Amino acid sequence: MNPKSFTILGYGRFGAAFADLLIRAGHSVTVFDPNAAVPENLAATTLENALREAHWIVLAMPVAHMRAAMSAVRPLLTSRHSLMDVGSVKVGPCQWMEEIFGAEISHVGTHPLFGPLSLARGELPRRVVLCGSAFHPDTAVAAREIFENLDCEVVQRDAASHDRLMADTHVLAFFIAKALVEMGIGDDLTLAPPSFRGLANMIAAVRGDAGHLFAAIQKENPYAEASRARFVDMLATVHRRLQEESNDQRLSIAEPSEPTR
Ligand SMILES: NC(=O)c1ccc[n+]([C@@H]2O[C@H](COP(=O)([O-])OP(=O)(O)OC[C@H]3O[C@@H](n4cnc5c(N)ncnc54)[C@H](O)[C@@H]3O)[C@@H](O)[C@H]2O)c1
Repeated sequence: MNPKSFTILGYGRFGAAFADLLIRAGHSVTVFDPNAAVPENLAATTLENALREAHWIVLAMPVAHMRAAMSAVRPLLTSRHSLMDVGSVKVGPCQWMEEIFGAEISHVGTHPLFGPLSLARGELPRRVVLCGSAFHPDTAVAAREIFENLDCEVVQRDAASHDRLMADTHVLAFFIAKALVEMGIGDDLTLAPPSFRGLANMIAAVRGDAGHLFAAIQKENPYAEASRARFVDMLATVHRRLQEESNDQRLSIAEPSEPTR
């Protein structure tokens, strides 16, 4: 595909890895992050300079900073710019983009379901969820092309159904990992059985993430709280059944009782 010019705002774990992926695919990348050690050949000294040559602007800062960042870039944008956020939750960021950029500035929400670790390991397939704006269907098409060119499988969903799905997967994975870390479980894996390996990988992945990611995933996803509550209730139910049930067959994990939803 034709090389494009990207400006990445936020050069942390994800922004740096994404910059590398884009550069390796032949795109040109400029970065603005006042708090990170950005390589000299990528760094712009001001936000204005960073946006001057860009076609695509990638918002790769913590979700909690996104709304303010959108407002800061808005006066500097024209119809030749397109924006994508890469936030790990989608309802809030997509809503803010609709409010702040509306029909005037094209935008699309994205959630790359990969991170620096999986990129470094070269894990495939890479999946990306796109949440398009009704104002800008062409921008979603263009973003799809970009990601497909980066060897990503692209799925288009609306922000609410994506966050709902993540509430039962991403949210619970981080929630369980957080509890295990707080309990000091997973520190010594010398005799951990193979059945624990999946959890151990999950703990390692979560430990390497920025602290704000845990809070964003748990607090900014509007469906997270209900999912955690259902999970905690179910743990209590399973615990109680183990105390009270004398028929081991009825406790079998291979024959789950009816889903509670
Ligand atoms: N880390 C992952 O695996 C992963 C995967 C998918 C999506 N994401 C998303 O990527 C975003 C960044 O996450 P991360 O893990 O890289 O966090 P990080 O803390 O490693 O990096 C965030 C960077 O953003 C910078 N920043 C903050 N406000 C800024 C602003 N207004 N302008 C420019 N830079 C700014 C910070 O200085 C920091 O360097 C989050 O929205 C997260 O949900 C992360």
